[in-house]
Amino acid sequence: MDDHARMQLDGSEPVSDVEPNGGRPHGGRVFLKTFGCQMNVYDSERINEALAVNGYSETSDLEAADVVILNTCHIREKAAEKVYSDLGRIRQLKEQRAADGIDTVVAIVGCVAQAEGAEIVRRAPVVDLVVGPQSYHRIPELIARSRIEGRSLVETAFPEEEKFAHLPQRAKARAPTAFLTVQEGCDKFCTFCVVPYTRGAEYSRSVGDVEREARSLVASGVREITLLGQNVNGYHGTGPDGEPCTLAGLVTHLARIDGLERIRYTTSHPRDMTDDLIEAHARESKLMPYLHLPFQSGADRILAAMNRKHTGAEYVALIERIRAAQPDLALSTDVIVGFPGETDAEFEDTLELFREVGFAAAFSFKYSPRPGTPAEKLPDQVPEEVKTERLARLQQLIEVQQRAFAESCVGRTLPVLFEKPGRRAGQMIGRSPYLQSVHAEAPQEALGKIVSVEISSFGPNSLAGVIR
Ligand code: 5AD
Ligand code: SF4
Repeated sequence: MDDHARMQLDGSEPVSDVEPNGGRPHGGRVFLKTFGCQMNVYDSERINEALAVNGYSETSDLEAADVVILNTCHIREKAAEKVYSDLGRIRQLKEQRAADGIDTVVAIVGCVAQAEGAEIVRRAPVVDLVVGPQSYHRIPELIARSRIEGRSLVETAFPEEEKFAHLPQRAKARAPTAFLTVQEGCDKFCTFCVVPYTRGAEYSRSVGDVEREARSLVASGVREITLLGQNVNGYHGTGPDGEPCTLAGLVTHLARIDGLERIRYTTSHPRDMTDDLIEAHARESKLMPYLHLPFQSGADRILAAMNRKHTGAEYVALIERIRAAQPDLALSTDVIVGFPGETDAEFEDTLELFREVGFAAAFSFKYSPRPGTPAEKLPDQVPEEVKTERLARLQQLIEVQQRAFAESCVGRTLPVLFEKPGRRAGQMIGRSPYLQSVHAEAPQEALGKIVSVEISSFGPNSLAGVIR
């Protein structure tokens, strides 16, 4: 996928520094659609903020947009293909607007942009801009340049400069909860995964940089921050003393910020679940009792073929250590069914590990061969109908466990951070420490506050309760 790096459609050098705004006024309405993970949600917020500084406004009306941006996901084939189906509709709109003499800039950003580069413009000539995740600070400048030059631009280099240093300060937060990227990229190279190619090598922002952003979020009303990274517990940013700092160190540091009430982090790798991080779960009351720790498969032969660097028994032993430190912990995980060569018995091992550990929530996926990854070339790809059947069985088990966990919360009084008004008048929606959605009758003043709620019932995706 590196072939695309630094490539321009016309074969010229990568985009050089262009004067901000390209010397011309910017502006117009931007429609930005986000696919994929929380990191893309965070990236989209920062793209919108960078565009706002350059005179753009947001719109949720695709037909009214002067700039259409799709922030894309490449993790599974379905996610990547959604982009092309959206582009069909966007092409029609762009043609209609062009007939009325109005220009529309179409930009594909994010992980599909990184993985497919110039190929996107070949397949969908409606696209004016292709920008990888490491260059999104340049989007305002690239839009201006594509308008001036009237040609498609592709920017998928991993630039020397650090995008975070080139993005504007955070705008006022819109909600009491926020994401904050502290780490990007992955050096683990699981054989099924595109992330090491789309997001590059592991990189950690410094503690000082993260703290500045966290403080500015808290100053504008944020009470809960989720620290993001593709391999967030591999965090090793430079600390205030100039030495590398672990995720536990970062959490401890951020926990000192007055007004920041809750800290979460995601996504983690079992191999990087260090003693100091486990200990932080026992010690640091602002660190929420929720851990997303993917295990992917319960079969050791499959785990080895996935290059996961842990066995099923090691995962179980790790969970035992974490639970010994913090018994009140909701666990969630990711699981893939139908990895190449997975037998019925190996799938049973996955179900067995699932039963043995017990999860409050889980995300399950059919294996999807991804271009450029080692597993794509493995023999014995599992037939689609077998994957479908295994996924259905796994999801039944997930549902049972999720339900059992929700049920165990009924009768308990939990601190809920209220985030937004509910659908019914007088109702508010918030989150429990375990990341469950909680509905309750609540006054307007409860927004952004942590309030005790006695849980009275549960549904498939949420809890309901009464303020105590
Ligand atoms: N096919 C299916 N699922 C995948 N994931 C990552 N790559 C693939 C793939 N090729 C899943 C993993 C990961 C989550 C974010 O997506 O379970 O933890
Ligand atoms: Fe999708 Fe992974 Fe990229 Fe996130 S990092 S957008 S999940 S491919």
